[in-house]
Amino acid sequence: MLYNRTGKSGLLLPAISLGLWHNFGADGDMANQRAICRKAFDLGITHFDLANNYGPPPGSAEHAFGEILHKDFAAHRDELIISTKAGYHMWDGPYGEWGSRKYMIASLNQSLKRLGLDYVDIYYSHRFDPNTPLEETMGALDFAVRSGKALYAGISNYPAQATRKAAVILKKLGTPCLIHQPRFNMLQQEPLKEGVFKSASESGMGVICFSPLAQGMLTNRYLNGIPEGSRATVGHFLKKDQITEPLVKKVKALNALAEARGQTMAQMAIAWVLSHKPVTSALIGASRPAQIEDAVGALRNAKLGKAELAVITKILAG
Ligand SMILES: NC(=O)c1ccc[n+]([C@@H]2O[C@H](COP(=O)([O-])OP(=O)(O)OC[C@H]3O[C@@H](n4cnc5c(N)ncnc54)[C@H](OP(=O)(O)O)[C@@H]3O)[C@@H](O)[C@H]2O)c1
Repeated sequence: MLYNRTGKSGLLLPAISLGLWHNFGADGDMANQRAICRKAFDLGITHFDLANNYGPPPGSAEHAFGEILHKDFAAHRDELIISTKAGYHMWDGPYGEWGSRKYMIASLNQSLKRLGLDYVDIYYSHRFDPNTPLEETMGALDFAVRSGKALYAGISNYPAQATRKAAVILKKLGTPCLIHQPRFNMLQQEPLKEGVFKSASESGMGVICFSPLAQGMLTNRYLNGIPEGSRATVGHFLKKDQITEPLVKKVKALNALAEARGQTMAQMAIAWVLSHKPVTSALIGASRPAQIEDAVGALRNAKLGKAELAVITKILAG
């Protein structure tokens, strides 16, 4: 594993991190969940990413990971970076979503109980709340850190301007914003195009990119149809109708380039994400341990030359 410095902080994160958004719900298979996490840790993935609402039902991924921590990683807490977030809908009534101090702190207390932890390493505001003063949401993150319930503060899905403002507020409070977590992959390049990378890196933050494989679209998963059990057949966030003919045509062309580089499509997609300067870590998901092995293999050949990057851009442009 390669460990990268997170922005201007002292924290090193693995170039590949594992998220528990999918496959860790109450309906999941605990033996498989444990095997995925154990494989990740054995390959040097020290960072596990959660949120209050991961499941289904919401909260169950934290519950499952709490159990895995207890069973498998009890002796390794100081070797792990565990994050959670609050921002999306978690419970009914006026205090169960967005960015109020009430929600942010109540949710963190709930997450710690589910995880069976005294503190998380990174606590995120999961999304920008246009109706709550940013000072209040950032004040809640600062409080989480000062009260010892989190070690670092982060933001996720924040647009460029709010990213800069959040950084200024947190700096004034004495809790610098560690990291931004946007979605970024070959098919979804908004953070690069809309200035989020620039705002984050100029503010001293690291960047951890979620869905680097576009939920599986940038792997060999859908090259020959839509397999039963794949995310497009079971997930709510990736639909079968997103696996279009033009998309598959592009991914086949990209896959040919990956093969020429001696790697899999998933490995090249991860290498592409990591080739963008402010990126600290690619935050993958996995439904089985073999996918983790595949992902980590990306680091054997993570450098993309100018000519290769140009070919990728051309393929993506169609
Ligand atoms: N901050 C936010 O708002 C936010 C939003 C979304 C996600 N996230 C974070 O980012 C994490 C990752 O997101 P993601 O799961 O969408 O990431 P992803 O890495 O783009 O997609 C993961 C999925 O791709 C497939 N896959 C993975 N490796 C593969 C391989 N080597 N070969 C073939 N298929 C492979 C698997 O799908 P199958 O099930 O089909 O096998 C896997 O579940 C989440 O768990 C979460 O922590 C954050």
